[in-house]
Amino acid sequence: MYTPAITGTGVFTPSETISNAELVEAFNAYADKMNTANADAIAAGDMEAMEHSSEEFIVKASGIESRFVMDKSGVLDPEIMHPILRQRSDDEPGIMTEMAVDACEKALAQAGKAASDVDAVICAASNLERAYPAVAIEIQDALGTGGFAFDMNVACSSATFGIQAAADMVRSGSIRSALVVNPEICSAHLEWRDRDCHFIFGDVATATLIERIEDAKGPHFEILSTRCATQFSNNIRNNNGFLRRSRPDGMTDRRDMQFMQNGRKVFKEVLPMVSQHISEHMQDEGVSNSDLKRLWLHQANKTMNDFIGKKVLGRTPEPEEQPNILQDYANTSSAGSIIAFSQNSDDLGEGDHGLICSFGAGYSVGSVLVRRHI
Ligand code: COA
Repeated sequence: MYTPAITGTGVFTPSETISNAELVEAFNAYADKMNTANADAIAAGDMEAMEHSSEEFIVKASGIESRFVMDKSGVLDPEIMHPILRQRSDDEPGIMTEMAVDACEKALAQAGKAASDVDAVICAASNLERAYPAVAIEIQDALGTGGFAFDMNVACSSATFGIQAAADMVRSGSIRSALVVNPEICSAHLEWRDRDCHFIFGDVATATLIERIEDAKGPHFEILSTRCATQFSNNIRNNNGFLRRSRPDGMTDRRDMQFMQNGRKVFKEVLPMVSQHISEHMQDEGVSNSDLKRLWLHQANKTMNDFIGKKVLGRTPEPEEQPNILQDYANTSSAGSIIAFSQNSDDLGEGDHGLICSFGAGYSVGSVLVRRHI
């Protein structure tokens, strides 16, 4: 058996941002347009008027101030209200591959490794741009890594589930190293025309390199233990899929073909599940809350993270103990906890413990307990 370690991480951040002010302005223009178009039905009581969104609500309910996106022009156009991404030919690199390669190259550079040192690529994300061939195999080809590659999807928990798969393969000796990469174009599955959720998501790609600890060239995080759990729930759901064309009204503009959630229920049900999951994982590994120097949580909602941090540490965490990036990136699905980890881990000292945790649709929750070596 070998000991796995995280030796590098990388983040690809899109160049375009949408502030809450820009988002609300576009949404309100769309709502006014719809209300004018449907004035008669609204006056007759056959239809409800759309209400305006508000910057104050978004910050208060979520902590999100801005988000990065692959295309803002379509999202902010009240006539379109979704991103417009160029159709690429089959001979060009896919957009997810392009984002993923950037993040992977940064992770390899941090670890001081070449693509040829990598035995496996796992593309773990909430949404994949096509059914096949696997996006991971295209990434493998673009990077020039050896071995094999495959896609997996556990929604917001994809990164930690992918890290567990990679760490287990390194541990058993079937591979020496793997890149787990999370290209997330959440803007394309978000319903920007729904004020209950139009502020939630952003786009990004993250990559994590996992190697045998003896192959680490620089500072790294030993993976002490990983743990994954799932429990079926319909409270976060997207019905889009390959059967769409076969269903009588499948091709119509249906609300359930984009992200849907019962936010209140998610809040209430996921919080205890995650807090208990982390506490039991730490307890079973003999890591007490006073031993834990950092908690890199899934980035969906600030209040949610504050609650989990307090439950796990038994006190209100200092901001540096439980760093949030959601104010700048919004919810980037599986990538959120890895952005937090990548941007807030260099200062930890020899022997310091930390925990990466992601959670979301499924429900699903995954945690990775690490120890720093410098
Ligand atoms: N602007 C202004 N008001 C809004 C609004 C907006 N954009 N969106 C909703 N509101 C209104 C609602 O209509 C509601 O009004 P009502 O009380 O008159 O019915 C009120 O604000 C509260 O809405 P609610 O949906 O209950 O807000 P909330 O406090 O639960 O916050 C979420 C919403 C989505 C931010 C929150 O539930 C959440 O973060 N849930 C978990 C999300 C999560 O982790 N998801 C995982 C995804 S992977």
